[in-house]
Amino acid sequence: MKNITKVFENNKAWIEEKLKINPDYFKNLAEGQTPEFLYIGCSDSRVSAEDLMGVQPGEVFVHRNIANLVNNVDLSVMSVLNYAIQHLKVQHVVVCGHYGCGGVKAALQAQDLGILNPWLRNIRDVYRLHKQELNAITNEEDRYNRLVELNVQEQCVNLIKTAAVQLANKERGLIVHGWVFDIKTGKLIDLKINFKEILSQIMEIYKLY
Ligand code: CO
Repeated sequence: MKNITKVFENNKAWIEEKLKINPDYFKNLAEGQTPEFLYIGCSDSRVSAEDLMGVQPGEVFVHRNIANLVNNVDLSVMSVLNYAIQHLKVQHVVVCGHYGCGGVKAALQAQDLGILNPWLRNIRDVYRLHKQELNAITNEEDRYNRLVELNVQEQCVNLIKTAAVQLANKERGLIVHGWVFDIKTGKLIDLKINFKEILSQIMEIYKLY
């Protein structure tokens, strides 16, 4: 975006476009939201949640941070999660990672990145948990891609550790999904996280109700 004023021109054109299709578009939008999904994805500018899912404003509640992490002391992600589940009553919570993730790549470097260190440490912990599998992958790009997938899986596990997810699952069958977006092809891949199995495996330790 070379010229910031272009943004406002784009906005005008967008309003016109929406009103042409439906004169009540913004009136309807202002009435409220009932999204079915909570999407937790990476902040990467190339991975825009609504575009890749083909959904419209109002259809998905979105939280994005570096490397799509669900850290239980991050007030932001935990607030989004609790609001989405308890107030918006979403039925699905999605963690969407992406191949070519700079955050995951940075966590593989022996480099002091200042304030990013504690954030990216979460990814190093994922690596440590799955060190055996990852170290057995000889191709560097394959190993990195696998870490992207395992990071999504572990963030799904982190979601399942929360009281909000556990209760909503019990009460209305809320489900957690793990996806990866392939930047090179545009394809969205369902990692087919086995929610029920993970839940039953970790509840012995993490059950909160
Ligand atoms: Co990323």
